[in-house]
Amino acid sequence: MEQIKLVEVGPRDGLQNEANSWSVADRIAFINLLSQCQFSEIEVGSFVSPKWVPQMAQTDKVFQAIEKVPGIRYSCLVPNQMGLDAAQEVGVQNISLFTAASEAFNQKNINCSIDESFERFKPLMRQAQDHHLRVRGYVSCVIECPYAGPIMPDQVALVAAKLLAIGCDEISLGDTIGKGTPDTIKTLLTAVCAVVPLQKLAIHCHDTYGNAIDNISMAIKLGIRVIDSAMGGLGGCPYAGGQAKGNVATETVVKTLHQQGFLQDFNMDAMQRASAFVAARKTNI
Ligand code: HMG
Ligand code: MG
Repeated sequence: MEQIKLVEVGPRDGLQNEANSWSVADRIAFINLLSQCQFSEIEVGSFVSPKWVPQMAQTDKVFQAIEKVPGIRYSCLVPNQMGLDAAQEVGVQNISLFTAASEAFNQKNINCSIDESFERFKPLMRQAQDHHLRVRGYVSCVIECPYAGPIMPDQVALVAAKLLAIGCDEISLGDTIGKGTPDTIKTLLTAVCAVVPLQKLAIHCHDTYGNAIDNISMAIKLGIRVIDSAMGGLGGCPYAGGQAKGNVATETVVKTLHQQGFLQDFNMDAMQRASAFVAARKTNI
């Protein structure tokens, strides 16, 4: 059976939306539990402004202290030069740049236009390539924007193609506010796959309206093999006006994929422990 890669985004996309910031010790313990589950990648945190996202302050300390299990990629979000320098200072090898298919969302989220975000990325990408970092690129609002409404698939394809052109190794398509349906996901992927190879794409579903599993199943049917999810359905984006509720829960994704014959080697006991750890601390509901 073909492999599916799971990217656990709970420690970043999950915890950035928690009402109470988790302590550095809890973030480290959570990631160490996740490392026993056999994810392909774990998003450790982000090197963004702590004034914008206080929950992600001290990601440097978290990154330094976690146990790094060989074979797992430990990645961090980086918005600008200051973030990239801070990430490299502590040895981060896998970074994620993030922009959106919506101008309005980008302004709220990273305080710049889509074009300006690509101007920002140019020197970051040069630096990343000089240091052989792996770079994931995120596109937010691939279906709908909380401020501007529906987004055209061609607009998403344009942004995804630009991320590919500047050298991103993988592009994650974010249904930030969970408005996707299997039909719109299919239309989206048809447009994006015309300009970005399927093997370079990941799907990142928020579960605001309970559609995420159906949307992921459609993406898998169309050949997507990299899925983002968050343990306990933690999360959301603080700049989506309260509409980016939880990420799709890792537990549900794993169960669904298991039923479909994928992820046979996933450590279910370790997942239970990580899941219980989240349940005891979750505050964003
Ligand atoms: P800005 O205010 O335009 O930046 O924010 P600035 O350069 O003018 O700096 C303002 C202050 O921030 C300065 O401090 C800087 O030093 C500091 P001051 O002089 O006022 O004391 N600063 C930083 N501090 C630490 N690390 C940094 C950094 N950069 C500046 N890297 C900026 C621009 C991009 C920094 C800001 O908008 C920001 O941090 N945004 C991050 C927002 C965010 O993290 N959103 C959530 C992640 S995206 C997401 O969740 C979607 C995704 O999951 C996919 C999906 O679901 O769609 C990926
Ligand atoms: Mg997200």
